[in-house]
Amino acid sequence: MTSYLVTGASRGIGLGLVQSLVKDPENLVAQEVDQLLPNGLDYLVNNAGISRQLLVTYDDFNYDHLTEELRLNTVCMIKLLGAFKPIISRSTEKKIVTMSSLLASIELSVTCPLIGRSYGIAKAALNMTTRKWIIGNRDSGITGVLIHPGVVRTDMGTPLAEFFKAIGYNGDVLTVDESVHYIRKIVDDPSRFSESVRFCSYKGPDLPF
Ligand SMILES: NC(=O)c1ccc[n+]([C@@H]2O[C@H](COP(=O)([O-])OP(=O)(O)OC[C@H]3O[C@@H](n4cnc5c(N)ncnc54)[C@H](OP(=O)(O)O)[C@@H]3O)[C@@H](O)[C@H]2O)c1
Repeated sequence: MTSYLVTGASRGIGLGLVQSLVKDPENLVAQEVDQLLPNGLDYLVNNAGISRQLLVTYDDFNYDHLTEELRLNTVCMIKLLGAFKPIISRSTEKKIVTMSSLLASIELSVTCPLIGRSYGIAKAALNMTTRKWIIGNRDSGITGVLIHPGVVRTDMGTPLAEFFKAIGYNGDVLTVDESVHYIRKIVDDPSRFSESVRFCSYKGPDLPF
């Protein structure tokens, strides 16, 4: 039996992912982790995320929003990893999945400079946190992967999709089910996980950091 803990599962991609996982009777989706999981937690899926000022320029920047984004997207991840390290370490899989974003890529920021100035900072910090934490804990056998789930029609992703449409971008805009399909293909593929933590797009080649 494989166990998963998914943060941010009340709506959007997290809810879609849990609905997909519970269809498989072999899976256990944890709610009360310690009592339910004497054999440890196989997959910690850090999906919860916020974006508070997607299109705001630095001239109009709201620093409280940036602080909030850093707190949830990054600081909470550090706390989550610390809290769950013992239970992940005693599992069979020992895998950490972090929902990142294309907007976290410093290298690709030149191609989309007008969006996610604040969110991009927090998600780039999240990428760094995930990588450094997993490499720093290599003795535990924990591996991880960072995933860009696509531009997805959720509360967070719909304004992003509308922005891209307005500027004439013709790339994919995914439903939650389509995104979850691609996320599951990555999560179910052990070759995607490593100590050095790859930055995987929902499809196509890995993204540059
Ligand atoms: N949608 C996209 O196009 C897109 C693109 C790239 C990356 N992502 C990433 O994918 C992940 C999921 O995004 P989504 O589109 O599904 O977002 P969403 O629809 O806005 O859902 C966000 C989820 O995070 C939870 N959350 C927010 N603040 C929280 C807090 N302080 N504590 C605990 N949970 C909190 C929400 O719970 P409540 O309902 O309680 O607020 C909700 O379940 C995020 O990490 C996001 O950055 C999304």
